[in-house]
Amino acid sequence: MLSQALLRLASAVSRRRMKLLLGVALLAYVASVWGNLVNMRSIQENGELRIESKIEEIVEPLREKIRDLEKSFTQKYPPVKFLSEKDRKRILITGGAGFVGSHLADKLMMDGHEVTVVDNFFTGRKRNVEHWIGHENFELINHDVVEPLYIEVDQIYHLASPASPPNYMYNPIKTLKTNTIGTLNMLGLAKRVGARLLLASTSEVYGDPEVHPQSEDYWGHVNPIGPRACYDEGKRVAETMCYAYMKQEGVEVRVARIFNTFGPRMHMNDGRVVSNFILQALQGEPLTVYGSGSQTRAFQYVSDLVNGLVALMNSNVSSPVNLGNPEEHTILEFAQLIKNLVGSGSEIQFLSEAQDDPQKRKPDIKKAKLMLGWEPVQVPLEEGLNKAIHYFRKELEYQANNQYIPKPKPARIKKGRMRHS
Ligand SMILES: NC(=O)c1ccc[n+]([C@@H]2O[C@H](COP(=O)([O-])OP(=O)(O)OC[C@H]3O[C@@H](n4cnc5c(N)ncnc54)[C@H](O)[C@@H]3O)[C@@H](O)[C@H]2O)c1
Repeated sequence: MLSQALLRLASAVSRRRMKLLLGVALLAYVASVWGNLVNMRSIQENGELRIESKIEEIVEPLREKIRDLEKSFTQKYPPVKFLSEKDRKRILITGGAGFVGSHLADKLMMDGHEVTVVDNFFTGRKRNVEHWIGHENFELINHDVVEPLYIEVDQIYHLASPASPPNYMYNPIKTLKTNTIGTLNMLGLAKRVGARLLLASTSEVYGDPEVHPQSEDYWGHVNPIGPRACYDEGKRVAETMCYAYMKQEGVEVRVARIFNTFGPRMHMNDGRVVSNFILQALQGEPLTVYGSGSQTRAFQYVSDLVNGLVALMNSNVSSPVNLGNPEEHTILEFAQLIKNLVGSGSEIQFLSEAQDDPQKRKPDIKKAKLMLGWEPVQVPLEEGLNKAIHYFRKELEYQANNQYIPKPKPARIKKGRMRHS
């Protein structure tokens, strides 16, 4: 009896031990599986982290590119006014990628008009108007005005023509074609679409004047066969064409006789005195003065001119109007002033006089004052020169070779195709 009882007890204990052992083994198994799982998970997590950071490395530059693209799509243009359909004009500017034309495009765009710039990029540059490219009110057309143009416009500012002596003497025949055939084409367009045309004429129509200051009723003193004749006579005949179209065809014309103008976006190889002196002074080169330097010039800042052009276009004045600054300085005074403003140690170097270089140039602007209420007074000379100096300093930094020294020799006449250096 006792022995049976002992056997039952022993088997019960071993069963309990077995159960216990089994329990422990199960726990150990679960723990190890759990441990493995945890391990695998952390390996997986580490791997995932590494993959994620690799993906991030590849994706981030792409994201940056997308951000740049988005920025370029939503590019911020200079603010433009809203004009109602009735007040908004479709305006063509020929030569609008040039110095004056691009500032005029800025003004007309900001005033809320639709502006089409036509240019063959002889001296103009896309960079001058690139801040408008893509704007719904703006269009840029690569076109030579010597070829006819068919577009619908309300006003035409006809500025297309090389303007500085080295540029217009480079290919005198092309200069003549631009000013004659080009002007005929634009007058033809004005007649066809009923647009008003403003011709950017020049003080050069007065030649080397015998009257001082020059008023609009002075007929001028131009050498018709000299090196500057392609430009001077080209502009004179362009004026004649305007009045022929006005009288014969009823085209509304405006003629601005523009005197020397300066400011940012003048071309580096413009060759005119202000840009030459600034570039020479900025690079520590001698400031080259042709002749004695006693010849006089009067300079207006470009935004003043642009205001005058817009006032003239929108006026009732169809006869020629001088737009210029009557404040006269000698070339030598300009050289000294620019040298001081730049803070340059450059010398002033005197070279032989250029042929047919006018000795005196000063506009009589009574007519503009009286009939347009216009005077070039918004930007005083020193302020304007400082703006131009700032521009040319930046341009020099922008140039790949970081140097542009205007050559101290008169403009050349080159045979062959027109190219600008
Ligand atoms: N800047 C001045 O001091 C001044 C003085 C008097 C008159 N102007 C007149 O003002 C106008 C603009 O002068 P700017 O100083 O801006 O000169 P600019 O050379 O900077 O501009 C002239 C523009 O006309 C373009 N052009 C030339 N020939 C062309 C053609 N056949 N077809 C299409 N485009 C052509 C050029 O590429 C350039 O963009 C010119 O008509 C010039 O005679 C200027």
